[in-house]
Amino acid sequence: MSGAGKTATRSGGHGRRIVALFRPHRARLGSVLGLILVSAGLGMVSPFLLREVLDVAIPEKDRALLAWLVGGMIAISIATGVLGVAQTWLSNLVGQRVMHDLRTQVYRHLQRLSLAFFTRTRTGEIQSRIANDIGGVQTVVTSTATSIVSNVTTVVASVVAMFLLDWRLALFSLGLTPFFVLLARRVGDQRKRITTVKQGAMADISSLVQESLSVSGILLGKTMGRGAELADRFEGESARLADLEVRSRMAGRWMMASIQTSFAVMPALVYLFAGLSPSAVSIGTVVAFTTLQTRLFWPLQGLLNVGVDIQTSTALFDRVFEYLDLPVEIHPGTQELHDVRGEVEFDDVWFSYGDEPTLRAIDLVVPAGTRTALVGETGSGKTTLGYLAARLYDPDRGAIRLDGARLQDLTLGSVADAVGVVSQETYLFHASVRENLRFAKPEATDLDIEEAARAAQIHETIAALPDGYDTIVGERGFRFSGGEKQRIAIARTILRNPPVLVLDEATSALDVQTERAVGAALERLAEGRTTIVIAHRLSTVRDADQIVVLDRGEIVERGTHDELLALGGRYAALVARDEGSAILA
Ligand SMILES: Nc1ncnc2c1ncn2[C@@H]1O[C@H](COP(=O)(O)OP(=O)(O)OP(=O)(O)O)[C@@H](O)[C@H]1O
Ligand SMILES: [Mg+2]
Repeated sequence: MSGAGKTATRSGGHGRRIVALFRPHRARLGSVLGLILVSAGLGMVSPFLLREVLDVAIPEKDRALLAWLVGGMIAISIATGVLGVAQTWLSNLVGQRVMHDLRTQVYRHLQRLSLAFFTRTRTGEIQSRIANDIGGVQTVVTSTATSIVSNVTTVVASVVAMFLLDWRLALFSLGLTPFFVLLARRVGDQRKRITTVKQGAMADISSLVQESLSVSGILLGKTMGRGAELADRFEGESARLADLEVRSRMAGRWMMASIQTSFAVMPALVYLFAGLSPSAVSIGTVVAFTTLQTRLFWPLQGLLNVGVDIQTSTALFDRVFEYLDLPVEIHPGTQELHDVRGEVEFDDVWFSYGDEPTLRAIDLVVPAGTRTALVGETGSGKTTLGYLAARLYDPDRGAIRLDGARLQDLTLGSVADAVGVVSQETYLFHASVRENLRFAKPEATDLDIEEAARAAQIHETIAALPDGYDTIVGERGFRFSGGEKQRIAIARTILRNPPVLVLDEATSALDVQTERAVGAALERLAEGRTTIVIAHRLSTVRDADQIVVLDRGEIVERGTHDELLALGGRYAALVARDEGSAILA
């Protein structure tokens, strides 16, 4: 998929890709086609019936023939109506399935992308591509595919019928068509350009809403007194979108108007042409001809619009395919790991987010069942190191091994089962406490969940809530205090029961009592596991089996608390500073 993506920036390449989306629905599309052909064929018959009525049945007062002809015209109308319903149903079905496939494909693909993509992309932008862009394609796809076929058949059938009736009149009245086609192409180009900008504007709006109307955004807006400015910014974005929308709708309005006028004028010209024509044209032919001509208007206009729509929708497809073509950076391995002991080894690991390495030449062994504490200045790369252990990123150089197996060789499931992360930032879904906990382990019983909550020292708090475990945590868990949220996150990880644990401590914001509760919960969680603690409070690392000091991405010291104190280096300095601030506080 990504191989083809490189050449597919031109719409020609995308054309094939768009067609490929319809391939699984061939059978249904075939039936739609059949229905359309049948109704177009039927539609071609009635003008001939009309001619017979006017030229034969009425002048010759042939009642029987008249009844048959009129009966035939009625039957054709009814049949066309019924076939139309069936066709609409089938084509909507196909269109919706295609969109469903596309949406699902994009979502699945995004799920496989690495954390890096999400750290650089606005959530609102992603939402907008899934909702607005695929949604925009949806209307085009549902109507376009069938619109093309049905209109082409109607146009072809009508044109054939027109030539059969009188080829000179036909040539005369179709003379303007190439001009319309040219016009439609220009409108399409214009609309495509506007659409690209418009979808960008929609993404901007949805990002702005998503960022500023979230709990954190509102909190920031209110405390910084910027609510009014944010509303102004929204107003600006919204005005821009409204303007683009008007421009996109107006592009093509002139085309429609000119086609409409020409079609309105056409019958009059046909009468003139027929009247002046040296060879006699029957009244029946002229009426049948102008009937066909008026019938040509909608399909022809439909086709020209479809042309415009297709050009427009390539702008949308470009945006959707751009996401589908994003390379998956974390490729799953195939090796399954069972009965994990939990030895973690960093072997000459280098990693960078951008140009500058964030981690350099990390050599570190965390023996199974022991506890290693990572300390260091803020920004020294502690969280990054933890993320690498959970394979949220792959190292640029070197290898990370779990029980001797390279993380890259393991299945993603094995890594996720083996390494648990309690991150600095707690995230809860907008769902009940129970559902949030069960997310870690879908098969957990209510009893398991309660036990995990007890171990995390949060059971009492949850049980005391009016709805207990069924309390909705609210957007991102803002319903709960920082310490409560953290303990829920810890309970979640206890449920998962991973042999290796990365604890990114964020206890600095907690009061002494809560810190103690969280600390106790963490103790319970760490029992018997390989633990990598990222500690901000040095008081919590004293009894670690190994303390590693990171400085600007490099390990500068390692040893036990006592060894490092005796060394009198960086760690000793950090401890002295920490104690100093503890005394001050
Ligand atoms: N997604 C990212 N993209 C680019 N740079 C990043 C990203 N995440 C972190 N960094 C940078 O990498 C460096 C290490 O970040 P990291 O989060 O690992 O620090 P840390 O040691 O955990 O700090 P703290 O103690 O404040 O939590 C920092 O300079 C940070 O700016
Ligand atoms: Mg950190």
